[in-house]
Amino acid sequence: MDVELRGITKRFGSVVANDNVNLTIRGGEVLGLLGENGAGKSTLMNMLSGLYAPDEGEILIDGKQVAFDGPSDGIEAGIGMVHQHFMLVPVFTVAENVVLGVEPTGQLGSIDMKRARRQVAEINEKYGLHVPPDALIEDLPVGIQQRVEILKVLFRSADVLILDEPTAVLTPQEVREFFGIVSMLKEAGKAIVFITHKLHEILEISDRVSVLRQGRITGEGDPKSLTEADLAEMMVGRPVSFTVDKTVADPGRPMIEMDKVTMLDETGEKVLDRVSMSVRAGEVVGVAGVQGNGQTELVEALSGIEKIASGKIIFDGEDISHATVRERHSLGMAHIPEDRHKSGMVESFTIAENMVLNNYYAPEYSKGWAIDWQKVAETAARFCIDFDVRTPSVFLPGRSLSGGNQQKMVVARELERETKLVIASQPTRGVDVGSIEYIHERLIASRDEGDGVLIVSSELDEIMGLSDRIYVMYDGRIVAEFDNTGGKADRNTIGLAMAGAHEGEGAAA
Ligand SMILES: Nc1ncnc2c1ncn2[C@@H]1O[C@H](COP(=O)(O)OP(=O)(O)O)[C@@H](O)[C@H]1O
Ligand SMILES: [Mg+2]
Repeated sequence: MDVELRGITKRFGSVVANDNVNLTIRGGEVLGLLGENGAGKSTLMNMLSGLYAPDEGEILIDGKQVAFDGPSDGIEAGIGMVHQHFMLVPVFTVAENVVLGVEPTGQLGSIDMKRARRQVAEINEKYGLHVPPDALIEDLPVGIQQRVEILKVLFRSADVLILDEPTAVLTPQEVREFFGIVSMLKEAGKAIVFITHKLHEILEISDRVSVLRQGRITGEGDPKSLTEADLAEMMVGRPVSFTVDKTVADPGRPMIEMDKVTMLDETGEKVLDRVSMSVRAGEVVGVAGVQGNGQTELVEALSGIEKIASGKIIFDGEDISHATVRERHSLGMAHIPEDRHKSGMVESFTIAENMVLNNYYAPEYSKGWAIDWQKVAETAARFCIDFDVRTPSVFLPGRSLSGGNQQKMVVARELERETKLVIASQPTRGVDVGSIEYIHERLIASRDEGDGVLIVSSELDEIMGLSDRIYVMYDGRIVAEFDNTGGKADRNTIGLAMAGAHEGEGAAA
């Protein structure tokens, strides 16, 4: 099945989300749709799936113009969309979710779950989805829930599958498996629209690419003849640097030291096991590891979010093993949290309020006994300029910002004060390339001003690009340490340590 979008325009008030967009989608092909946060990707696909109606332009399926009056018309025409936020019922089983709304009925009009389960099993088999039909959604990991969404649209006989930023929620291993499924769908003749802001994913899986910037198509072509640099420029509108420009570090005194720190979870299991590490002034230290090996807990211990069971934490010579989060903050510890929605910002607060979230009590913001909101707003506006947070006003709620801009807001708040140590956890997760470049520059700038910088990331490229020294965590322990001066650490050896092999090898500690 082929689909053509012609001259599609969509406005939300004064925002032109899509501006005269032309796009062709073909059966048996993966079309990569690339663009920064807010470029208009979801809006465009919401029109193709029937959720929104375009203001101008037309949609043709196999040459015939169609007009959808809601998503059920889209489904009817063979177009299925898997949204960024899943729409499954958590307390229902996989099979129940899949058939919801289109239940096959038995002889007396009752729901024929047996037939439904059989059909689910067939689709499962055909596309290598491996989803357990009787499991409850709430018990399944996100990666599997996503497959349930795919199963759901396949069950409705979709020929065109729109996958809206599917890899954003997946681990690197899950991405591999997901690409396998996409290949099988393509082999079966389905048309796939794969939305992402990750360049290497486009190069790896798509047959054609279209790039959106500010609602317009700014480039298209065959990924085989395009480089990441080409794609980035189409996406951001200027050349983007992928390598982090930095000089050789000149580390000073230890800024933070952990001495045999152990932390237990609620069941008494060791989540940190005698971890000793340090970050010196003027040095970037990266923590690599497969997610779930203690990196999150390491940051919780350092920032004071969770208590440690034994061991010591020394911050610039001072014992802070049992200090509160606020005390550590006041001593000059900055923390960019891994989940900005959970602990980095309050979505309903204004951007101005978010900019002083952990600092509103500081003397520079008080006017007698009250908070000087004028001062807060001025400061927030300056932070927005310095950190390129794009918003028409600092009085809009935090949730009005795109993901990349929310992250820059958090980074601005944490870095725009006197700090000694910056702890950055997944600092660029879900952030587009232009903003990644910017956040990386700022982290290196903190280092060059003499801060200790600790980076925890599941992106090994990010760790290798930024760090002067690298620790690898495995099973709650630091299992290896690498000197990365001049980028000399070996990627393979680090990868092996992350997988738990050759424990201790390469360990300088
Ligand atoms: N329902 C809506 N109401 C108002 N503005 C919207 C709505 N949906 C999207 N927008 C705006 O349209 C633009 C494109 O958004 P979107 O399509 O979600 O981008 P992307 O998926 O590429 O991140 C953004 O400026 C966004 O704020
Ligand atoms: Mg989107």
